Amino acid sequence: MTDPARTNGRVHTDGQGHASPPRQPAVITVTDLAKDYSRGSNVVHALRNVSLRVQPGEFVAVMGPSGSGKSTFMNLVGCLDRPTSGSYLLDGVDVPSLSRSQLADLRNRKLGFIFQGFNLLPRMDALGNVMLPMVYAGVSGQVRQRRARVALDAVGLGDRIHHRPNEMSGGQQQRVAIARALVNAPSLILADEPTGNLDSRTSVEIMAILQRLNQAGATIVVVTHEPDIATYCSRTVVFKDGAVLSDQPNRRIVRAVETLARLPPDTADGPA
Ligand SMILES: Nc1ncnc2c1ncn2[C@@H]1O[C@H](COP(=O)(O)OP(=O)(O)O)[C@@H](O)[C@H]1O
Ligand SMILES: [Mg+2]
Repeated sequence: MTDPARTNGRVHTDGQGHASPPRQPAVITVTDLAKDYSRGSNVVHALRNVSLRVQPGEFVAVMGPSGSGKSTFMNLVGCLDRPTSGSYLLDGVDVPSLSRSQLADLRNRKLGFIFQGFNLLPRMDALGNVMLPMVYAGVSGQVRQRRARVALDAVGLGDRIHHRPNEMSGGQQQRVAIARALVNAPSLILADEPTGNLDSRTSVEIMAILQRLNQAGATIVVVTHEPDIATYCSRTVVFKDGAVLSDQPNRRIVRAVETLARLPPDTADGPA
């Protein structure tokens, strides 16, 4: 299933049909990554010397009990926080050595984020929310509109671009957030419990969209509590006490569209 050569060949076309060189660097390379938090006179070792790589085209589930370090790991990988020690290369870029503004720039260009609570701006419609990352990236107004429409079409919301978050269901809001995450064509999409606030059918719909993006080349890391959700991914990394307890390719990847076909239809939220 995870044949790196094939994955690379499939993933790294530039959108105009030009295949890029066969050897791509890993998207994520962390080595002995550690994060300590001080709490009063105590030190919490939230992450203890974690080493792992994620290759282009992987779809990784991060699991583990509450407090095991999943969010700490995601925050470091997402360049939202700095490690206490260890190294981190994102697409070959040495992240801990960057300045604050370089980090912000890297985050904007290379990363897309999806959160449990959607984190959309309530005063903006779907189109405005999806255009936002491109504002920071300095993309011109016309191009912003066009790309945001394409991204909203890709998540099945082409007919709701002028709805505000409070005019949409949870599943629709999360799809707007996915469109926002992919609109700058990031190297990596990070999702921390993206289905945590959604019912089971809507969760599978969201996973179907993420699987489709992954098949089209996106590299995705998703934190989840739910073993069902992890079955849609191609690899599962389990954290415990701030360390990697296990790291395995998934032997049988469940296709979310097939799960959906077996579920009773839900008229409230429409198809994915
Ligand atoms: N900002 C913080 N300050 C102090 N301790 C923290 C902070 N963030 C996380 N921790 C601690 O680090 C450990 C790992 O937390 P976290 O990464 O949020 O775990 P998970 O996402 O797996 O539930 C926990 O013991 C948590 O209490
Ligand atoms: Mg967490």
